[in-house]
Amino acid sequence: MIATESNPLLDGLQIRRRPEPCVLVIYGASGDLTQRKLMPALYSLAYRHLLPEHFAVVGAARSEESDDEFRERMKEAVRKHARDEFRQEVWDELANGMRYCTLDFSDAAGEDQLTELLREVDSERGTQGNRVYYFAVPPSAIETLIREIAARREGDGWVRLIVEKPFGHDLASAKHLNELIGEQFAENEVFRIDHYLGKETVQNMLALRFANGIFEPIWNRQFIDHVQITVAESIGIEGRAAFYERAGAIRDIFQNHLLQLVAITAMEPPSDFTADSVRNEKVKVLRSLHTPGPKSVVRGQYGRGFIEGQEVPGYREEEGVSPTSMTETFVAAKLYVDNWRWADTPIYVRMGKRLPRRETTIAIQFKRAPHPPFEETAAEGLRPNVLLIHVQPNEGMSLAIGAKVPGQGMSIRTVHMDFLYGSAFREGLPEAYERLVLDAMLGDATLFTRADEIEEQWALVDAITAAWQRDRPAFPNYAAGTWGPPSADELLHRDGRSWRRH
Ligand code: NDP
Ligand code: BG6
Repeated sequence: MIATESNPLLDGLQIRRRPEPCVLVIYGASGDLTQRKLMPALYSLAYRHLLPEHFAVVGAARSEESDDEFRERMKEAVRKHARDEFRQEVWDELANGMRYCTLDFSDAAGEDQLTELLREVDSERGTQGNRVYYFAVPPSAIETLIREIAARREGDGWVRLIVEKPFGHDLASAKHLNELIGEQFAENEVFRIDHYLGKETVQNMLALRFANGIFEPIWNRQFIDHVQITVAESIGIEGRAAFYERAGAIRDIFQNHLLQLVAITAMEPPSDFTADSVRNEKVKVLRSLHTPGPKSVVRGQYGRGFIEGQEVPGYREEEGVSPTSMTETFVAAKLYVDNWRWADTPIYVRMGKRLPRRETTIAIQFKRAPHPPFEETAAEGLRPNVLLIHVQPNEGMSLAIGAKVPGQGMSIRTVHMDFLYGSAFREGLPEAYERLVLDAMLGDATLFTRADEIEEQWALVDAITAAWQRDRPAFPNYAAGTWGPPSADELLHRDGRSWRRH
């Protein structure tokens, strides 16, 4: 166990400056994301006095609601989903600056009404015309909103746009969206969210690699045998059939969260921690990803099975899903980064719904010691060194090393050195959305994806999905509650390797 000195400043969110006055406009304020993630994140920021001194939240959506009804609904959402205890005085301060506007995005009159409301809020709350627009809306609505916001820009206040994923549906649509945004806004006004980058453990990869002298010299093909990245979820599609049928696992998670984990794991050290330096290094990795051939990509779809002892339906039996759906709910692939650091070092990735448990891990598997001077029998229980980063849950990391078993003679076994956030730091981990919303208010885009990164990610996904058009796998091909189809295991067995023991 690793101990740290208790220091409240170690809660990274507490050492930031406060953002300038602004209004956060949430388009899609009646939706799932707003109540489960955004409002609880705002509450936690308010709880820590991290919101601007002059601040307001204006929710906008189609559903009819008064300001008070909106506040009441958001209060329930905070009670249910926030990580912090509910404190009336914290809530009151936040709720005092909350307003709601009923509008249909395609209706110009509604947008006029919103503009009027924002002016009123500026004069009441001293928010100085500064705006953060959060698009918590279906991707199809984004184009209209971009045009409306650009057309209504006024005064000296700054504007920032937070755009949710998925950003486009393929390379062509993402390029189109980037071009449209680029015509009206500067890149530093655009914040494309990938909430995995807001996770503490993902940011800690940068600290681990670049703040310690011991890892970087061995973080390469000479010492690393291969990397395994797993993004496993035990949940199914949670009523999001309309979205998921179109997206599938490859667009929902592989294209964004998973490829960002690959980029962070494989990138070169940036010269500093500014948005451009970090993103310049990530995009180089994404550009160097070799397109995997058909044999190096596996897709799956879950059938009926058991999760924690409960029987759950197969994907094709979920409400809103076609009984003959060919949408994948699992993807595994062998990726190569074509550069000097990683040449010939496979990065195996897998991700899926209805796997046995929720687990996101990055496992760096090192090569075996070149010449252990022990008898073969002494080292029977010894496995190669693995640095295992637990992105979630049980956030932390663990280094597997060989150690002598106490007693007579020489017998060596694998043991683990663990660092757990829960015991090393006093403060709970902030939710990813807290960090990201705060960063956008501060104008810091380091943890957001840049246009070129998004496009590289889509280029890879387009190549994979184009190859998928040529065959029709026999879906479903894995039972809910198992680790994907047998072909996912074969992907590694062919190379004389196997997925980390579950
Ligand atoms: P929901 O379908 O729950 O909410 C969509 C929101 O958009 C509703 O408030 C809806 O208003 C509003 N809306 C849609 N069309 C219009 C329109 N024409 N005019 C006015 N309002 C409109 O979606 P989610 O909250 O789940 O997702 C929002 C975005 O966030 C999506 O891009 C999604 O991919 C992304 N996302 C969501 C995650 C989640 O956990 N939910 C996680 C990661 C990303 P109304 O209902 O009142 O009509
Ligand atoms: C979202 C996906 O981006 O990430 C969901 O749309 C998925 O399908 C979710 O469940 C997972 O996020 P987390 O933070 O729970 O790992």
